[in-house]
Amino acid sequence: MRVSALSPSNSAGGLTILLLLLDFITPAATVKHENFKTCSQSGFCRRNRAFADHALTPESNWVSPYEIKENTVLLQNGILSAEILKTVPGQTEKVVLPLNINFQKNGAVRVTIDELKRTKGDIVLRGESKARKERYNEAERWALIPDWDVRDDKVVYDNQKGQITLTFGPELKYKAIVTVYPFNIKFERDGETHVVLNDRGLMNVEHWRAQPAEPEEGKEKSPEDLDGGWDETFGGNTDTKPRGPEAVSMDISFPGYDHVFGIPSHATSLSLKTTRGGEGAYEEPYRLYNADVFEYIVDSPMTLYGSIPFMQAHRKGSSVGVLWLNAAETWVDVVKEKKTKTDTKTHWVSESGQLDVWVFLGPTPQTLYKAYGELTGFTKMPPSFAIAYHQCRWNYVSEDDVKDVDRKFDKHDIPYDVIWLDIEYTDGKRYFTFDPLTFKEPEKMMKNIDKAERKVVLIIDPHIKNTENYPVVEELKSKDLAVKDKSGDIYEGWCWPGSSHWIDAFNPAAIEWWKSLFKFDRFKGTAKNTYIWNDMNEPSVFNGPETTMPKDNLHFGNWEHRDLHNLNGMTFMNATHQALEARDVGKGKTQRSFVLTRAFFAGAQRLGAMWTGDNEAKWEHLQASLPMLLSQGIAGFPFSGADVGGFFGNPSKELLTRWYQSGIWYPFFRAHAHIDAKRREPYLTGEPYTSIIRDAIRLRYALLPAWYTAFHRASKDGMPIIRPNFVAHPDDEEGFAIDDQAYIGDTGLLVKPVVGEGVDKVDIHLADDEIYYDYWTHKIYQGKGKKEYSAPLEKIPLLMRGGHIIPRRDRPRRSSGLMKHDPFTLVLVLNKRGHAMGWLYHDDGESFDYKQGAYIHRQFMYNGSRKTLSSRDLHKDRAAAETYKKAASALQIEKIVIVGASNSLDTSALAEGRSKAKAILVEDDNGKVKEWHASLGYTAAVDKDHGDVLVIKNAKLKIGNDWTIYLEQVGAEDKPKDEL
Ligand code: NOJ
Repeated sequence: MRVSALSPSNSAGGLTILLLLLDFITPAATVKHENFKTCSQSGFCRRNRAFADHALTPESNWVSPYEIKENTVLLQNGILSAEILKTVPGQTEKVVLPLNINFQKNGAVRVTIDELKRTKGDIVLRGESKARKERYNEAERWALIPDWDVRDDKVVYDNQKGQITLTFGPELKYKAIVTVYPFNIKFERDGETHVVLNDRGLMNVEHWRAQPAEPEEGKEKSPEDLDGGWDETFGGNTDTKPRGPEAVSMDISFPGYDHVFGIPSHATSLSLKTTRGGEGAYEEPYRLYNADVFEYIVDSPMTLYGSIPFMQAHRKGSSVGVLWLNAAETWVDVVKEKKTKTDTKTHWVSESGQLDVWVFLGPTPQTLYKAYGELTGFTKMPPSFAIAYHQCRWNYVSEDDVKDVDRKFDKHDIPYDVIWLDIEYTDGKRYFTFDPLTFKEPEKMMKNIDKAERKVVLIIDPHIKNTENYPVVEELKSKDLAVKDKSGDIYEGWCWPGSSHWIDAFNPAAIEWWKSLFKFDRFKGTAKNTYIWNDMNEPSVFNGPETTMPKDNLHFGNWEHRDLHNLNGMTFMNATHQALEARDVGKGKTQRSFVLTRAFFAGAQRLGAMWTGDNEAKWEHLQASLPMLLSQGIAGFPFSGADVGGFFGNPSKELLTRWYQSGIWYPFFRAHAHIDAKRREPYLTGEPYTSIIRDAIRLRYALLPAWYTAFHRASKDGMPIIRPNFVAHPDDEEGFAIDDQAYIGDTGLLVKPVVGEGVDKVDIHLADDEIYYDYWTHKIYQGKGKKEYSAPLEKIPLLMRGGHIIPRRDRPRRSSGLMKHDPFTLVLVLNKRGHAMGWLYHDDGESFDYKQGAYIHRQFMYNGSRKTLSSRDLHKDRAAAETYKKAASALQIEKIVIVGASNSLDTSALAEGRSKAKAILVEDDNGKVKEWHASLGYTAAVDKDHGDVLVIKNAKLKIGNDWTIYLEQVGAEDKPKDEL
């Protein structure tokens, strides 16, 4: 490979830097644990765990030292404000902590606690720092949507004997009971307590204090001299902590809840394990500190590349959640207390910032996700190509290479939509340039790729090469748009290009500048079909502490990096997203962006997709991927994927094949490989693997209408795109912890990928007594519990739950773009009573016209008693619906497949060959009834364990129209027409 980062002009760092870089390009055996802190190596985590241990020891007779000053309590315009006083042992003066409880119309509640002294800037910074003195209070600017604050002005207040009760929310069904001393808040719904803040008294706001002098010999340390509160050194880097110790922590209990989910990203089970040791438990808390943890280990609470501090607690009949809105390094302990019921108790600790907790009282997963999305935004509606198949590796090395891969996909009839270029396409890791030797005519390459409506994604990272004659770095410096070090000078660190500076995307001027760089006349060689991948945006800094930036670096507004670290990646993604959406793609029009990010925070779902970073070509990483992606869905960021095939190493053919069969169920479906990995494009695998992989990818393409519809739902109400058992069946207690199978949107498709070597059967958990049919053979699986499913290599374990209608497009094409005029198939999977229901959302897949109503949204309903299938318009805006209907009038449903037809229709005549094709009546949206001689195909059930299948061909039903078809006559003996 080319190690251009080590060109002589950059070799100043010498051997150390060489070793650092080699560390990143040579696969190691496993993650370098010693590069990342454990709780005991992180001062504030260690302190607050010790604080908790002390408080929870019965002998300590602990009483939380926080009390509301009652005469400060005021309820005004949906906000309860008050002062909390913190008693500090040995001090008469109490610490004043302003409290705000903000009640939202949808029932969400925000509790913020600040520190008066710091809000006034009344503290003295240590050293020469120029840092801001307040606790960071701008996380909401990035994480929440701009108009999130929709206040509940009907809160009912009652104050009795030290307990303030606030009744609020839709139909006044929620209560917050604030105890004045010791301060805590209980949240009730339906007369039961669901969430308690400071239940165990572990709240701790580390107030400002000057660093106490070293004790004289033989004297004790001042209690204000907090362990690890001042300069702290790790891995040779010293964090100067100009504001001293300032952590915030709180315990949050979920009484009666046995399962908690969320707080991605961790390579762990969906239902979170406990973290205080013991059998099957972790010893370490879950850590949220975005980091370049390449070659991460699975089954670990270690931090990964992105964080969303949203947690859901679920039990039969109830789902509630909390968002810990803090972008600093955060650790979360989880314990469970089993009495008659189980209580899950959590403990959250962040290094700095305000204490800012949101509580959502459900009661269902749907209402919870909707309320969370109304705050942080719903997933972005992606351009349609983005949910098709992406082909990536580090690197496609030249235009010829790209051409060759593109051609070979076609030669082997394997569809793909996007080819990706990793860092080697650049001229010496200078982003916004192409290597003049290997990518001489990038514009031509883009055009060539566009012939099959395909796209190119280019990587652009946030580190800007510090070199001569590079306009991008010159502008970054001259416009003063980079991150600064603790003294306010431009920060310099090492990444792929060697010495680099980092764009500070918190700065609005930096965003404007970034947008200018992506204009087609500036980023020469790019075109309308060029999209962007943002990597290394935790940020990854090879020579920084824990491979990231020093915490005392400074950002726009002089906020310390420590305060906003977990937001950093998202702000960079935001700048890129804005840049792509600002590109004029012709006639003043813009198009939807596609940005892939590695680092993220709550709210990043509004901007694009994420992937789980540098996994390995090992079975356990394949296995870890589904729980990780399910967790992303819970936390409101469902557009997620994992590198198919595994990034590091070389998968066996079997592993690669099984990975594709799993990967087609990732909302973001991309194969990727490390620069040292052998080439593994699906056509190279050889038979039978190539054919099996082709079939898998084609299945993804056939189901794209269902995926797009699922994305649309997620973009409207936050329902995950792939759903774990507990979301699809919230009352199925046995299935709450299941995370190795998933439902796809509302389709009733239930997949259980094979993730083990040599495995040829799996157990699929059925949550209810509905009929489930094998997707391939229509074999019936029924009865609650585990069902064995035979899954030889060529078979993807896939069931269809009765009662659903699945939209498909069945013609194999080279790309999704080439399918855009293709007709649809509807697969009706009849339930026990013969009914089925489903949805289809469709728009042009690229523009913003859908925001003006240019889309089709249908509900299909099969009524098993009346034997009718009808299509109903769900469009909100009739006029816009009519306009788009015309534009899409050529789109038709050409085939209707009815699985389990005999659950509704009398198919005996068909089965015995006594029935020919029958007239079907179609009623269109004007109420006109016409006859249509359908061509029918019928496959009788092979035995009683299989479903029968009726296929209605040549349907020619317009996708945008209302219609009803009457199937009563199908399969019946001839009858006079007027009896129909
Ligand atoms: C790290 C990313 O995780 C990986 O996907 C990428 O290939 C390399 N950086 C090189 O850009």
